Amino acid sequence: MKYGIISDIHGNLEALTAVLEKCKEFGVEEYICVGDIVGYNANPSECLEIVRALPLAVVVKGNHDEEASIESNLAEFNEQASQAILWTRNQLSSDQKKYLSDLPFKSRVGRITVVHASLDDPEEWGYVMDSYAAEASMSYQFSQVCFYGHTHVPMAFDREHGEVKMLESASFIVEPGHKYLVNPGSVGQPRDKDYRASFAIYDTEACEISVHRIDYDVKSTQEKILGTELPERLAERLELGH
Ligand SMILES: [Fe+2]
Repeated sequence: MKYGIISDIHGNLEALTAVLEKCKEFGVEEYICVGDIVGYNANPSECLEIVRALPLAVVVKGNHDEEASIESNLAEFNEQASQAILWTRNQLSSDQKKYLSDLPFKSRVGRITVVHASLDDPEEWGYVMDSYAAEASMSYQFSQVCFYGHTHVPMAFDREHGEVKMLESASFIVEPGHKYLVNPGSVGQPRDKDYRASFAIYDTEACEISVHRIDYDVKSTQEKILGTELPERLAERLELGH
């Protein structure tokens, strides 16, 4: 099976469209969506409908999916994020909100676990950015491979004989006896100083996971943001990749 792994789309229609076209070229058969379909960019409703229509093996809930689908006070979010969430809530139908609100915090397909933030407490939305946080998450990982998102930074960790190390390469072989925790990066708002959309492919027959970057029409995405009540800063940060 060839899976396309997509995370943190955040309502970026241009990035999502470009990634899905590339996935088709790669021969992707099913998709794994790691959450945060909505929030930040100007097309949450359109992106959600595209994701719902995909052949999905798994889709889990991100913190923005959660906040956009319920009526909560947004005390834990910074001003930019909370303005975006309030705007996004108004773009979604009640059916779309129910879909988002019903998503699981973690899920599993075959030998793959999927969680938006971290397996040690999926509802607390912790950030896995180093091998210590990876180790904490991996101690709750009972499958060979786990995909996570939330940080918007592509990253992979390998655990062998209890030792966790960060992998340097964007492409690697899944070896027997090892466990992997892999972030495919963000489709719609990368934060590693590279504006290009990020996603991963997991080819289970070749036992290979690879992370890919792809150019997209970032100017159109920015113009759409500037044409809404969304904070202008959300348009600026897209081309900077942070
Ligand atoms: Fe996110």
